[in-house]
Amino acid sequence: MGRAFVYVILGGGVAAGYAALEFTRKGVSPGELCIISEEPVAPYERPALSKGFLLPESPARLPSFHTCVGANEERLTPKWYKEHGIELVLGTRVKSVDVRRKKLLTATGETISYKILLIATGARALKLEEFGVDGSEAENVCYLRDLADANGLVNVMQSCSSGNAVVIGGGYIGMECAASLAINKINVTLVFPEVHCMARLFTPKIASYYEEYYQSKGVKFVKGTVLTSFEFDSSGKVMAVNLRDGSQLPADLVVVGIGIRPNTSLFEGQLTLEKGGIKVNGKMQTSNDSVYAVGDVAAFPVKLFGETRRLEHVDSARKSAKHAVAAIMEPKKSGEFDYLPFFYSRVFGLSWQFYGDNVGEAVHFGDYLSGTFGAYWISKGHLVGSFLEGGTKEEYEAIAKATSLKPPVEDLAELGQQGLNFALTI
Ligand code: FDA
Ligand code: NAD
Repeated sequence: MGRAFVYVILGGGVAAGYAALEFTRKGVSPGELCIISEEPVAPYERPALSKGFLLPESPARLPSFHTCVGANEERLTPKWYKEHGIELVLGTRVKSVDVRRKKLLTATGETISYKILLIATGARALKLEEFGVDGSEAENVCYLRDLADANGLVNVMQSCSSGNAVVIGGGYIGMECAASLAINKINVTLVFPEVHCMARLFTPKIASYYEEYYQSKGVKFVKGTVLTSFEFDSSGKVMAVNLRDGSQLPADLVVVGIGIRPNTSLFEGQLTLEKGGIKVNGKMQTSNDSVYAVGDVAAFPVKLFGETRRLEHVDSARKSAKHAVAAIMEPKKSGEFDYLPFFYSRVFGLSWQFYGDNVGEAVHFGDYLSGTFGAYWISKGHLVGSFLEGGTKEEYEAIAKATSLKPPVEDLAELGQQGLNFALTI
C-alpha cells in the first residue's frame, strides 16, 4: 500500500517552503506535490528561532513566521498548502529511500513513490557526545535546530530567570543565543576553543568589536578552551560545567552550538557526496537524474569561485530551492545556478551582512566608534568578499553588487581609505 506523487519534497524546512511556493508559481496541479517532514508543523523561517522566538516581550510564534515571510512573499500556512492541493505529511520521518525504484519508506510504514524527488533534509546539530562529553540529555542542556528545541530552550530559560547560562560554541548559534539570553537578563558566559568569536568569518578586528559590545551587555567570554564534563545534581540536572583549562562555571542552563552535519545518511551509497553534502550540478540535480538537492544538504558549484561549496545559510536555501524547481518545471528555460553567497546576523541592536568569500587579505574600513564599519577581502588582486555592520539598504546593495563584479584592486591602502565609497561608486 502506498501513495504516488509526481513531485516529493523530502524535508519540511526553509528550502521546502520556498520550493513549494515556486512549484505553485510554475503551475503544479493539485495532488501532484507532497512534502514529507519529521517536524509536526508546516515549513517555517528557522532563523526566527534564535532571535524573535527568544524575546522576553511579544516573542515570535507560529503562524507568524511560516515561510515565506523571510522574503516578504506569501505566508504559507497549513491552509495555503490545502488550498493549493499540496499534501503535507508532517511528523513523519523518512527512514529509507530507494532512488532506483523511486520510492520512500516512512517510519510509519507507508511507501510513497515519486517521479521527481527534491531532497531538502537540511542538517542536524552536532552533539557533545561526538566530542567525547556525556550528559547532553539533561533537561537543562539545550541545542537549537528546530521548533521543539526552541520551545525547550524557552522553558528552561523561564525557569532560571536571573540565573547563569553557559553557552558552548562561538559561532552563529553561540553568538545569537548569548545575545538573546542576555536580553532575558540571564548571566551569560560564552565558551569556545578559538581565539575570537565567529572564527570562520570574522577577522580579529571585527570580532573584537562584537566581543566588546557583548561585554558591555554583561556577557563574559572564556576563549581557547572547551567543555570537558558536567556536574549534575541528584535529579540529573546540570549544575556546573568543567572546562579543559581546569576552571568550573556554575550553570542553570547550557546552550550548545558546536556546528552541524548535513542529513545525507539516507543517500549514502546511492548518490555522489562531496564536502559533506549531496553533490549537485548547476541545476541542483544530483548524480541521479530524478533527484535534486537544495539547502544546507546540497554541495553546489558556486560560479563566482569556480568550485563546489556547501552553504549553511537561509538565503542559499531559499534561492537554491527556487532554482531547482525552475530547473524541474522548465528544464529548457533554466540556466545554471549563479549564486553570490550571502550571510547575515542580527544581535542586540546590531546587524551585519557579508557577501562572497572571506579568503585572501582583509582590508578594514569605516568608523568602529560610530558603529558603521566593514572589511573587504582581496584575493589574487580582486575583491572577493565584503562585510558591513550598521549599513543602510543602499550600502548593503552596493557591497553585494561590488562583490559580484569581482573588480581588480591594486592598492589596498587606498581601498581602505575609500571604504564604502569604493562599493558605492562602482
Ligand atoms: P532545514 O534544516 O531548514 O530543514 C530540513 C527539514 O528536513 C527539517 O524540517 C527536518 O525535520 C527535515 N528532515 C530531515 N531529515 C528528514 C527525514 N529523514 N524525514 C523527514 N524529514 C526530515 N541562516 C541565515 O542565513 N541567517 C540566520 O539568521 C540564520 N539563523 C538561524 C538560526 C537557527 C536557530 C538555525 C538552526 C539556523 C539558522 N540559519 C540562519 C541557517 C538556516 O536556517 C538554514 O541554512 C536553513 O534552515 C536551511 O534550510 P534547509 O531547508 O536546507 O534545512
Ligand atoms: P558554527 O559552525 O557557526 O559554529 C560552531 C562553533 O562551535 C565554532 O565557532 C566553535 O567555536 C565551536 N566549537 C567547535 N568545536 C567545539 C568544541 N569541541 N567545544 C566547544 N565549542 C566548539 O555552528 P553553530 O553556531 O552550531 O550553528 C549551526 C548552524 O546554524 C550553522 O550551519 C549556522 O550557519 C546556522 N546558523 C546560522 C545563523 C546565521 O547565519 N545568522 C544563525 C544561527 C545558526
